[in-house]
Amino acid sequence: MKIAIGCDHGGFKLKNAVIEHLQKKGLEVKDFGTYTEESCDYPEFAQKVAEEVVSGNYEFGILICGTGIGISIAANKVPGARAALCHDTFSAHATREHNNANILAMGERVIGVGLALDIVDTFLGTEFEGGRHQRRIDKIKEIEKKYYK
Ligand code: RB5
Repeated sequence: MKIAIGCDHGGFKLKNAVIEHLQKKGLEVKDFGTYTEESCDYPEFAQKVAEEVVSGNYEFGILICGTGIGISIAANKVPGARAALCHDTFSAHATREHNNANILAMGERVIGVGLALDIVDTFLGTEFEGGRHQRRIDKIKEIEKKYYK
């Protein structure tokens, strides 16, 4: 499983903890920045990771900022990105099962490292259920087609 990860300065420490965790599990993870705690703009990293995931270069993306909100909003502007902001494990498995989310977003200022790593494991370890949920994702794609020209 190949994972693309990115953050802004608000998510830098948690991103490093997630990278270490994934590497210990033997997963391939590519860090798309930011690489320091200097203030930066989260849309840049959201776009990079979302494009890598939507293009199929990486199976999943993980994006972290202070709240997880800005970076998920930005990622979801890339057609085909389904970034889910999760701060609990129920949301993490539900969004994989129902929304086929391809990007997990979290906020370093919102949750602790232990919970964040459990959320990562839950998200990556849960399959999409398909069926009626695919019909709903197809309707999301129709919205993208209408507005992205
Ligand atoms: C940066 O200060 C902060 O605004 C950012 O990390 C994020 O929380 C935005 O949604």
